[in-house]
Amino acid sequence: MSFSLLRAPARRAFLSTATPRAAFRSSYRRYTTSTPPPPPPPKSSNTGLFVGVGVASLAAGAFYYYYSIASPSGADAATTAKSAAQAVKVATGFVPTKEDYQKVYNRIAQVIDDAGEYDDGSFGPVLLRLAWHASGTYDKESNTGGSNYATMRFEPESLHGANNGLHIARQLMEQVKAEFPWISYGDLWTLAGVCAVQEMAGPHIPWRAGRIDGVVANATPDGRLPDASQGPDHLRNIFYRMGFNDQEIVALSGAHALGRCHRDRSGFEGPWTFAPTTVTNDFFKLLFNERWVWKKWDGPKQLEDKKTRSLMMLPTDYSLTQDKSFKKHAKAYADDQDLWFKDFSNVLTRLFELGVPEKQFVTQDHWILKTVDEQNEKTSS
Ligand code: HEM
Repeated sequence: MSFSLLRAPARRAFLSTATPRAAFRSSYRRYTTSTPPPPPPPKSSNTGLFVGVGVASLAAGAFYYYYSIASPSGADAATTAKSAAQAVKVATGFVPTKEDYQKVYNRIAQVIDDAGEYDDGSFGPVLLRLAWHASGTYDKESNTGGSNYATMRFEPESLHGANNGLHIARQLMEQVKAEFPWISYGDLWTLAGVCAVQEMAGPHIPWRAGRIDGVVANATPDGRLPDASQGPDHLRNIFYRMGFNDQEIVALSGAHALGRCHRDRSGFEGPWTFAPTTVTNDFFKLLFNERWVWKKWDGPKQLEDKKTRSLMMLPTDYSLTQDKSFKKHAKAYADDQDLWFKDFSNVLTRLFELGVPEKQFVTQDHWILKTVDEQNEKTSS
């Protein structure tokens, strides 16, 4: 059984920092990297809004034409269409509702869970990394980058070293895109980030639809995402450029409770926590409660916990305990998971909206999409 099938509170209780190493070992399927299994065959379209596949393809084609050819630059596209809703309507003749996005969410949740032997049994972490890397290219000075145009679809951005391994996540999302062709890639990828956090027992992440697909000219230069081998100054340079402050940098970094580093992607190796498919504040707790020593190996500089030598920290992660301002926030999050959940939720909503003009959003109010468990509870009660 996959952990994401467990109800959120149960998962959280079951998988905590205190989990003995033996239990951890037997709990997790595998601890090595593997190629993901081939994607499951697409299920029938859920939209019910298209007359048929032919119409859907035509509509998708029209949408592509509308942005990619009729309006050669994404900036033009944003001006031409006042909102993404208007754009979808032009291309497909309907405006998706919150319920339609909930259907997409539910399909992503299935994909996350259908991970078989991949990593720790969930595609959640790699999907969250996709959403973050799609958004974290934002530069507030030039107002370029961010999640609006989903430019990681294009070379050379898809080949930037920081994006190594994210083809796995992008390919997974292609299945969902085929079933819901009206959704933009930017909306799909950020929704996947929301879904990953919520389905892995994290806080609700308020989200809005409205991103549009851009063109290759909107792609960002290399070097906008953080370099894990650096320290606090580098983190500030990168995240201040996006418009975040110290507290937000630390709150965002707590995402490293999830997933792992892969030798063949970043060069680094191993998970940060004993529960890499559950959102907890364990990243912060472990930073302060364990003794971290430099790993002796032929790879890049990273730290390992002295006790079990099975966990890792990146130099950037460790710098959160070395810098006075970062440390204050990291300690607060180690002491109070609710506080981190609240701040993490707020900052993720902001991260996922970087670079999206306000007028493009289909609604002013954010939506809270329901987890699969919440929907099941409602139908069974
Ligand atoms: C603070 C600066 C950051 C640095 C230097 C950094 C660096 C890295 C590196 C080197 C990896 C390993 C990639 C691999 O080998 O597969 C990684 C993984 C990951 N990062 Fe970050 N990251 C940062 C911030 C963030 C943020 C803000 C988020 C999300 C909000 C995030 C979410 C993740 C997740 C979920 C993974 C695991 C992916 C997987 O299991 O496949 N990271 N990060």
